[in-house]
Amino acid sequence: SKSLTILGIETSCDETAAAVLRYEDGRATLLSDVIRTQLAEHAPYLGVVPEIAARAHAELADLTVAAAMNASGLSYAELDGVAATAGPGLIGGVLVGLMTGKAIAQAAGKPFIPVNHLEGHALSPRLSEDCPFPYLLLLVSGGHCQFLDVRGLGDYRRLGSTIDDAVGEAFDKVAKLLGLGFPGGPAVEALARNGDPKAHDFPRPLLNRPGLDMSFAGLKTAVARASANAKSEAEKADICASFQAAICDVLAEKARRALEGFDAGAGDKRFVVAGGVASNKAIRAALETAATAQGARLIAPPLRHCTDNAAMIALAGAEHLAAGLCETDGLASSARPRW
Ligand code: KG4
Ligand code: ZN
Repeated sequence: SKSLTILGIETSCDETAAAVLRYEDGRATLLSDVIRTQLAEHAPYLGVVPEIAARAHAELADLTVAAAMNASGLSYAELDGVAATAGPGLIGGVLVGLMTGKAIAQAAGKPFIPVNHLEGHALSPRLSEDCPFPYLLLLVSGGHCQFLDVRGLGDYRRLGSTIDDAVGEAFDKVAKLLGLGFPGGPAVEALARNGDPKAHDFPRPLLNRPGLDMSFAGLKTAVARASANAKSEAEKADICASFQAAICDVLAEKARRALEGFDAGAGDKRFVVAGGVASNKAIRAALETAATAQGARLIAPPLRHCTDNAAMIALAGAEHLAAGLCETDGLASSARPRW
């Protein structure tokens, strides 16, 4: 069958990324994969600042695309299409990526494919594994926390999601409360290793409610109350460990329920976890236990493709193009920050 070579561009949050991917017979090969993080620019503010992100994307987008094209050894003329994240995300950054992608597509006379960032995450395990549809996906990042039933290309059903904070956001807020810096996840996880997970009996919101929706705002409030008197490292470690244990309990129970109700058809039950939070070892172990108990296999893409990247955007573009699922005039598509 015909092979497709796609340039992908990702600018929806705080990574400026570009990748060139070759797609043939359902298999993806990365020819290049460039990610420039803006973490250092945002760290002083303990969170991602949209204005700073937009300016950084504007400065870095062309250079990042050029670096990805260079590393691929290809010219624009050799591409079969250009894909860029069109949303959801921070509007400033999304516009930069979209404009960059459209300009290249138009100049090179190639199709432009607007990609939903969440679809990119949903397809990300297929970058490195033979991961046929359907599978259950848990996307846990700084901006997202949701269970998706990935039935097929373009066929995604949201089974449940957070009704307030995302898990990564909760980690970042706890880190801020304890003065641990940004991003908070890795710092909280490191400190939790020295703490007692039973020191505080933090709430497990919505745990006993049916369904797959989640809530973490109340947990964060309880942590804030406990943090007010926490001065020593040991006290902070206990808070981190107890907070992380509450998150693990909620995610594991919701995963168990999601897997119980998941229709794997004739195939194996596959449970994919993606997003920056998937790098947390305690959370991964809790999900692994839940998966094993339900006879499912836990699949976690390599960290590089768990967090925001352009390879997954290129893959989504390639799969759409291969399936003839493309919008007829991608150049007319607009930014959709809340897509
Ligand atoms: O997927 P990602 O890189 O960016 C988006 O949010 O789209 O995820 C970043 C989030 C941050 O909130 C960060 O604190 C969290 O993932 N995170 C972690 C860990 N590493 C990163 N949360 C918990 N434990 C970790 N080890
Ligand atoms: Zn993301």
